[in-house]
Amino acid sequence: MTKLLEVKGLTASYGQVRALHGIDFELEQGGITTLLGANGAGKTTTLRALCGVVRPGGQVLFDGKNIVGKGPEDVARLGVAQVPEGRGTFTRMTVEENLQLGAMTRSDRAGITRDIDKMYDHFPRLKQRRTQQAGTLSGGEQQMLAIARALMLRPKLMLLDEPSFGLAPLVVREMFEILSALNREEKVSMLVVEQNAAQALALADQAYLLETGTIVMSGPAKQIGADENVRRSYLGY
Ligand SMILES: Nc1ncnc2c1ncn2[C@@H]1O[C@H](COP(=O)(O)OP(=O)(O)OP(=O)(O)O)[C@@H](O)[C@H]1O
Ligand SMILES: [Mg+2]
Repeated sequence: MTKLLEVKGLTASYGQVRALHGIDFELEQGGITTLLGANGAGKTTTLRALCGVVRPGGQVLFDGKNIVGKGPEDVARLGVAQVPEGRGTFTRMTVEENLQLGAMTRSDRAGITRDIDKMYDHFPRLKQRRTQQAGTLSGGEQQMLAIARALMLRPKLMLLDEPSFGLAPLVVREMFEILSALNREEKVSMLVVEQNAAQALALADQAYLLETGTIVMSGPAKQIGADENVRRSYLGY
């Protein structure tokens, strides 16, 4: 299998305070990797460093190209879409306008229209609400819109920061089913940061455990899920 993402010695700091102490991880082409860890472990910082929102150190090879030092727009153009913590839809715009904005870096009008229809197939609830202001959608609907908007970029890799945050258990399950279908059908690779360790481990093929800016455990998601300490600390049984 070829690697889509190879991260070596990734560091990131806020002012003088280092949040990532040189972490290594990788993601296979077409794969789903999950990054687990307690509050403040550095999960969001890792995603921000990858897409250039926080200035990283170390090496990040995406599709063979080093993207360290590139800004968010350049990273997006290369095919990395971000679904940030707290959703980040344009609240004053309609569902459909948000989807169109997601395709801002593209110029293939017909392809964009086709992809909007495709998003409505994946997310039928968004279709019913296409003219509704994003800010008036429910939390789950906004999360789905954020994912659909990221997909409008036609990304090779999607960075998802706690896609299940704040959602009711049934909606969480629906969300993970949609992510799995998108990975299968649209061939989008995913790096998923989650508090919901059980669901994330079921979705992913590889898992990494982050503690205060350092990777302390890594391996196939099944194996990590079976680990005694992980079960006790993150899965709660
Ligand atoms: N803008 C910032 N300025 C200063 N410190 C920050 C900033 N953002 C994050 N940090 C610090 O960096 C560390 C890692 O934070 P990060 O947000 O990456 O954690 P996280 O694993 O995503 O946590 P959570 O599960 O709570 O979202 C924390 O100690 C946090 O306080
Ligand atoms: Mg976070």
